[in-house]
Parts: sequence; structure tokens; C-alpha cells
Amino acid sequence: MTGEQQPISQPQRIDRYVGQYAERAVGMVASEIRALFAVAARPEIVSLAGGSPYVSALPLDAVGDMVGQLVATQGATALQYCTAQGDAGLRERICDVMELEQVRAHPDEIVVTVGSQQALDLLTRIFIDPGDVILVEAPSYVGALGAFASYQADVVHVAMDDDGLIPEALEEAIRRTAAAGRKAKFLYTVPNFQNPAGVTLAAGRRPRILDICRRAGLLVVEDNPYGLLGFDGEPMRALRADDADGVVYLGSFSKTIAAGLRVGWAVAPTAIREKLILAAESAVLCHSSFSQLTVREYLNTQPWLEQIKDFRELYRERRHAMLGALARMMPPECHWTHPGGGFFVWLTLPDGINSKAMLPRAISSRVAYVPGTGFYADGSGAQYARLCYSLPTPDRINEGIRRLTSVIETEVQLRDDFGPARPVS
Ligand SMILES: Cc1ncc(COP(=O)(O)O)c(C=O)c1O
Repeated sequence: MTGEQQPISQPQRIDRYVGQYAERAVGMVASEIRALFAVAARPEIVSLAGGSPYVSALPLDAVGDMVGQLVATQGATALQYCTAQGDAGLRERICDVMELEQVRAHPDEIVVTVGSQQALDLLTRIFIDPGDVILVEAPSYVGALGAFASYQADVVHVAMDDDGLIPEALEEAIRRTAAAGRKAKFLYTVPNFQNPAGVTLAAGRRPRILDICRRAGLLVVEDNPYGLLGFDGEPMRALRADDADGVVYLGSFSKTIAAGLRVGWAVAPTAIREKLILAAESAVLCHSSFSQLTVREYLNTQPWLEQIKDFRELYRERRHAMLGALARMMPPECHWTHPGGGFFVWLTLPDGINSKAMLPRAISSRVAYVPGTGFYADGSGAQYARLCYSLPTPDRINEGIRRLTSVIETEVQLRDDFGPARPVS
């Protein structure tokens, strides 16, 4: 021994286990967003990429005091195991939260999960065999696509417009799936302020979507982390409010309290709920009691509705800054969605401009976004980019759009001079 610390193992360049992974692990690749996070976090870059909530707006001192109190008075419970279904007191409070979207549920119908991401994983685990079809919006949430890929689902995209999922396109996708001798296992939808497109399923379309799914015997998975972050009027009526048997509703406190607590939930018909609890048990035994009780205490003792209003105001101002900057600066060939809530604007680039190929040049110009390709299971979507306004200040948003505009203008010039660019793969 020399006394010098030796690394336990050298980083391996070659994976010696490459032939031994399960087939499902082969499809597990880093998402576009994950690869971007490290670069986009550099302070000189204006990141319009990752969709993180602005947790600094929370009254952190008050939350700190509350957590201290929690440990002092209920530490033996907060630091202990609990049931896989989740803390009963928290589940009661979740029912109150869901009433804001006109969902009437009993605490027994709820399963607490590690963010709604875990609910997505567990649902996919209990429903999907390799090759099973899942219908999803085009584009769709990258984390859901990752979960679906890890269980080797066959994802079929269904078109949206400014009013969300198009009922006729859904009918057509169901018909084509059946004509190919297959049956879709569920429809995955983010009806409110969709990630990544920022659009919301119109009220008039909701009963139609439910009706189409009911007739086709298709389960609906309604993923709704942004529903309470609308900028105008009351929250939309959830799909689950009109079909308790046909819809699994996924909720999350990541955007309304704090993402780092990792608390979400699923509301599901009885049989599905039982399977979800068993799947959760085998995945994690139970979820963090500490996080669950923190959320429960927060809902019991803090002005949480006021805080959601504050979040809404903050995001409204940032959305306004982004839409204003886009309108003032972007070249005429670009267009974009106008979200009524949530975090995201979906930008359509001029013809022949590839958002993936353009990204390195955007990063050199100190602005980051997520290329549209991350939100399509088949890697299409290169003409789009997701822009997120939740984290940067309005001034930084303005600067970010200014930089991005200049990058796009240069791309257009190059396209006109030399033809469309192709991404380096
Ligand atoms: C549409 C959608 N679903 C689910 C999630 C996962 O959220 P969490 O696991 O933090 O609840 C996100 C996170 O950004 C999301 O945008």
C-alpha cells in the first residue's frame, strides 16, 4: 500500500456486459433532454430547454420551519416505512386538490407514486408486453416515451392541432391499429397545457375523445401535472370527472409544490389500482414517508392555493415575455403555439431547417432548446423545437429568443445558399 488513494475501478470505455443485457435495455438511451442538461446548466447559456419549475418562488424559510416541526413532532412516522398505497392523510388531501378539476374520488382510490413518472412506469409495466400498441399525442412527453420504450411498446402517434388531440385522427389510429390485427392497450394524453406542445384539449372535444375510447374499449391515461397552472379562468374539467371506469388519472405535486419532493399519484379503477399497488411494492416497497408527510403538512398548514396563484402569475409573466419576444423577433416563416398555461411553447421552424442539426450552433450562440425529435417515438419532428419559459427571468427569455432568432436567420441563409442541413448522427 502506498497510502495513495486508488480509484476502485477505472471508467470503462468498453461495456463488457454488452451481450448480456435484457432486450428491453437495448432501447434505453439517454433522452435528448438529459444529454442537454449538463451543457444548458452553464450560466452563460440561456436555457429554454429543461422544463423545471421555478421552486425558488416557494417561501423556503416557512417550508424549512414546517419540515423541522414535522421531524420534531412526527419524526417516528415520517422516518419509517409506510404502505405502498401511500399515507392515508395525504390521500385525503389529494382528493381535495382534485376537486378543483371536478374529480370526485375517495382516498381509497388513490395510489401515491414517486412523481407521476413512476405512475407511468408502473402502468406500462402492468399493461404492456413487447410490441403492444400505445396511442400517444404527436408530439408527446419525452419521459412517457422513455417509459414506453423501456417496456418495448409500439408507440403510435395521433395528430393534434391548437385544440389538442383531433378526435377524427384518434378514430383513424384506432381503426388502422385494428386493421393491422392489433389492439391498442391505452391512449396516453396530457390534456392541459401539453408538454411539449403547450396546447389544451378543447372542452367540446373531451366528451368525444371519451366516447371514442369507450366504444373502442380503450383505456385513457390522463396525465395532468399542469392542470392547475392555467393563466385564465377556472381549471378545466378533468377527463376522469366524466368516466371513472375508463380513465386512469395521474397527478403530481412537482409543478404546484416542489419537484424535488417526488410526490405524485394515480387514481384508477379498482382492479388496476390493486395491480399498481402490487407493482409499486415490488419496485420500492413503499414511497418516501418523509416526502409524503412533508406534502401532507404543506397542504394542511401552508397557504397552498395562494402559492399556486403566485406560480401562475409568475409563469404568466414569463409566457408573456416569450410570446412577445417571438412575435417581435422571429422570421416570418416561423410559427408557434400560444399556451394558456403550463411551461411550454412549440416552435415550428422554417422549411428545411433541422432543429437537431441546428442545436450545436445554438449552443455556441449561448441558447438551448429541445429539438422536436425528442418528442416523437420514430425520431421525426426535426422541424420543431420545444421552448420552456418556466425557469429564466423575462429579461433572459428576451435575450434567449434574440440569440435563437439570429441562429435561425443564419440557418435560413445557409439553406438558401446551400440547401437543407442534415444532422450529424
Ligand atoms: C406531462 C408530464 N408528465 C409527467 C411528468 C413527470 O413529473 P413528475 O414525475 O415530476 O411528477 C412531467 C414532468 O415534466 C410531465 O411534463
